[in-house]
Amino acid sequence: SGAAQVLVASNRGPVSYEVGDDGSLRAKRGGGGLVSGLSAIGPDAGALWVCSALSDGDREAVRRGVGEDGVRMLDIPADVHADAYNGIANSVLWFVHHMLYQTPLEPVFDAEFRRQWASYETYNRAFAEALAQEAAEGAAVLVQDYHLCLVPGMLRELRPDLRIGHFSHTPWAPPEYFAMLPDDIQVRLMEGLLGADRVAFLTWRWATAFENCVQGLDPYRWLPLWPSGAPRAVEHVRKDPGTGRERITRKTLIGVHSLGADAEFLHARSHEPDVEERMAALREEIGAGRKAIVRVDRTELSKNIVRGLLAYRQLLDDHPELLEQVVHVAFAYPSRQDLAVYRDYTAEVQRVADEINSQYGTPGWTPVVLHVKDDFARSLAAYRLADVALVNPIRDGMNLVAKEVPVVSDEGCALVLSREAGAFQELGKDAIAVNPYDVIGTATALHEALTMPTEERAERTKRLAAAATALPPAQWFLEQLNALRDQAS
Ligand code: G6P
Repeated sequence: SGAAQVLVASNRGPVSYEVGDDGSLRAKRGGGGLVSGLSAIGPDAGALWVCSALSDGDREAVRRGVGEDGVRMLDIPADVHADAYNGIANSVLWFVHHMLYQTPLEPVFDAEFRRQWASYETYNRAFAEALAQEAAEGAAVLVQDYHLCLVPGMLRELRPDLRIGHFSHTPWAPPEYFAMLPDDIQVRLMEGLLGADRVAFLTWRWATAFENCVQGLDPYRWLPLWPSGAPRAVEHVRKDPGTGRERITRKTLIGVHSLGADAEFLHARSHEPDVEERMAALREEIGAGRKAIVRVDRTELSKNIVRGLLAYRQLLDDHPELLEQVVHVAFAYPSRQDLAVYRDYTAEVQRVADEINSQYGTPGWTPVVLHVKDDFARSLAAYRLADVALVNPIRDGMNLVAKEVPVVSDEGCALVLSREAGAFQELGKDAIAVNPYDVIGTATALHEALTMPTEERAERTKRLAAAATALPPAQWFLEQLNALRDQAS
């Protein structure tokens, strides 16, 4: 066994490398909810973070032995990684849990899928082996997300001494939807996850969906509630072949940890000079005296960017008094561009934005300001000056943008929030709720947000910020670690 007492495993790691023109390696911060949440803790907790080499720069860094303390990148063969990440994780599992399949975009579980699945197994095994190698006797291992569903089961076989947790940063599919997956794959995924001592989710909604999926599977029994509100659990039941009597071999606890925003980091970072510069530039783009409706997302089907644009157009159709008075600032950062549906979606976002601009734009007014180049400082600048934030996902594990905006906002910002975002459970009371499919309803919500009295807006923003920061990342991580360590095996 190795030396690490605490290990984190995820596909995307905290840093990524780019090869410069002169051949030198440049480190930059990874993106997405998982990395934003976990970045706060790694080095402080003395944890070893095991992740994939994703870019050419990352692979070069592994080859040269360049890296940060506390991070180990796995150089998994590019074709195996592509099958596992693009094919299985981001096409099949992401689509199932976000319920993104709809005719004609529906899964076809054919020979190609089986080939990709084999890669998903290989890729998960590479993680399990690396973790088994690095972990000290009795160490705690926190495995992250849908890329690594098989790791807990594989790791338990290699190292029964370890405490293993799994955390899902996505929603979990309801059983009717999960049942789309081939039966043996459903069982494989569950066996993999239930190899953990604890599986945890961002909200009770996703945890309950998971429990409902477990219920249909034979060797497990789900305990809805332990006495006195103690955590829920899945019992592993084995039948004695001789007597037919059932025996409980072990339990997997189910936890909920609602990742919050990191107020301290966000306050400090959003007042750096580069953010101030970008605020000035944005103000120029928006134009003096105009209100700004801001959204910031990965260009991701589940984020529902196109319907957001259509709702904005509806708003302009319905309220001519708003012409020249409002700007939709939409940051849609490229994501998963190896997948054709994501490339098509990116083009669709651009097309609809252009359409609105040519329909309504005037020489002095661009109704939609769309930026696609990822720039964290500019995102923070937009959060600070937003009058309205639009967060309208079809389905989202949490959505950290909804939690970050109220924390960073200078003068208060009205939040239009999809009731299908995990964050809605905590923020719903002070947000304006929308059904993400309802474009007219979203337009009405945008209007309500724009016309909210400033005082009320400021009050609500304060309460939103308090709710959003209830469980900051470092505590979120410690809570899981302690629960795992305290758990009777
Ligand atoms: C979501 C997932 C993360 C993922 C992130 C960015 O938040 O839960 O696991 O890292 O999206 O996606 P990407 O495919 O770029 O890692």
